[in-house]
Amino acid sequence: MVATGSDRHSTRTYYVSTPIYYVNDAPHLGHAYTTVAGDVLTRWHRQRGENVWFLTGTDEHGQKIMRTAAANGVTPKEWCDKLVEEAWRPLWAHLNIANDDFIRTTESRHTARVQEFIQDLHDKGEIYKGGYQGPYCVGCEEYKLPGELAEGDDGAQLCPIHRKPVEILKEENYFFKLSEYGPKLLEHYENHPDFIHPASARNEVVNFVKQGLQDLSVSRSTFDWGIKVPWDDKHVIYVWIDALLNYATAVGYGSDSAMFEETFPADVHLVGKDILRFHAIIWPAMLMANNLPLPGRIAANGWLLVGGEKMSKSNLTGIKPQGLTEHFGVDAYRWYFLRAIAFGQDGSFSWEDFTARYTSELANDYGNLASRLAAMVIKYFAGVLPKATAAGEAERVVQEGLANAVAAADRKIGEELDFAGGIAVVFDFIKQVNGYLTEQEPWKVAKDDSEEGRARLATILYTAADALRGCAVLLNPLMPQSSQELWNSLGADASLGVLAGQRIQDAGDWGRLPAGSEVTKGQALFPRLEDRTRA
Ligand code: ME8
Ligand code: MG
Repeated sequence: MVATGSDRHSTRTYYVSTPIYYVNDAPHLGHAYTTVAGDVLTRWHRQRGENVWFLTGTDEHGQKIMRTAAANGVTPKEWCDKLVEEAWRPLWAHLNIANDDFIRTTESRHTARVQEFIQDLHDKGEIYKGGYQGPYCVGCEEYKLPGELAEGDDGAQLCPIHRKPVEILKEENYFFKLSEYGPKLLEHYENHPDFIHPASARNEVVNFVKQGLQDLSVSRSTFDWGIKVPWDDKHVIYVWIDALLNYATAVGYGSDSAMFEETFPADVHLVGKDILRFHAIIWPAMLMANNLPLPGRIAANGWLLVGGEKMSKSNLTGIKPQGLTEHFGVDAYRWYFLRAIAFGQDGSFSWEDFTARYTSELANDYGNLASRLAAMVIKYFAGVLPKATAAGEAERVVQEGLANAVAAADRKIGEELDFAGGIAVVFDFIKQVNGYLTEQEPWKVAKDDSEEGRARLATILYTAADALRGCAVLLNPLMPQSSQELWNSLGADASLGVLAGQRIQDAGDWGRLPAGSEVTKGQALFPRLEDRTRA
């Protein structure tokens, strides 16, 4: 067994979350990016044999949703129901997202517990009544500090993210004593250097907190689409306080203590960098205030850009994932964004770049390797995988390459959230196996009918097949459909059992694929794009 990664979570549930998305419109590439990253992390840890809980959902209260519903002539709840059922859930199913739960903030399992949580804070003296006036961005559902605003061509004060004018809000409402938590937060960041990921995000938060925090307005009284403040029903709870608590209410906070103990807090909250401060400052402060444990890590991804700006529902610049999956397929879609953009950095989608990478890495390097190997086992050994009886130095190098790839990918993807780096490791190994075949020239060895020649040919093909067996395991969290197809083509299902049961930790052990397995040639794993036919 290769000792990789950490086993610190082996006894409790590894809990991964995505943000709960606003349902003001249908999802675009940006939402899918975070959700696919969460899914790959989840499946990776499952492939390690761990118990994992993966949560996603929707954020349905607040002014933004209320206004969108009104503009469409329906009630906010009707609007949310329609968007959740017709757009959000179907997309996650289409992208093979293996979430364990889907929480909606309008569900009573959530609303009742949010009221209890805020009542507790109130009882503890963490909340007081006060007044506030300031610039507010409805797109962010957030008061902005005057210093962070951008200026429009006409001199208007703009939200720096949404590039839309802010509104001046003046309200008497309830405040959470966030300002008192600055020192404790800084201490936590100091003692837990991995708490905020990547380092650039961590630095941003630390600098922000060092400047001093203001108390946070946690209620609204000028509209009513929200959860009522339990001690004052003229107010609804600020949508972000409501939303952040989904991570607790969905895993049994106040309702199922066994599940809550087992699962909470999250090991990783995946978020976009636009909502980093809510997760790295407000959320931990809320938990500290109520004596609850803090999450392991807040991991912030960068933005997918359109014309240099953040792709956004509010600004109608969203590109729908379905437009890409139709052309490239779901597995390639899941692979592309994590492969092409370093986690934490911004990136842009381009049709040309996707096409070029698909063709070179998925179709030529990986897909061709799988189909060439199957074709040769069928041609030279009637489809029965032969034994490797004549392994030498060249084979040892491939074996070592696989063991190293397993260890490095496990560390990068499973622990460091370096998806691009981890995927690169696997595709470098695929290149290595292709290079091995090119050097060993099995098609020439096949012309040698002697016993030695047959043994050599058997060894070469077995080596490539067992290397591919390792790749199927490593790529299963990222590309479940094609990995299963490869698994079937290697005859591994019959000889080794289900792919889902193969542990990452064992994937680098050489020789797991039994000789005698029946190798078959299925459809191309990644057909040439011009050959992809769609109904
Ligand atoms: O903020 N690039 O919801 P939201 C990359 N409801 N990721 C992007 C993106 C882009 N262009 N656009 C969106 C909210 N995302 C709140 C969250 S959590 C308790 C409440 C992703 O619908 C990214 O993960 O605006 C971002 O943080 C999230 O979608 C925001 O989705
Ligand atoms: Mg947003």
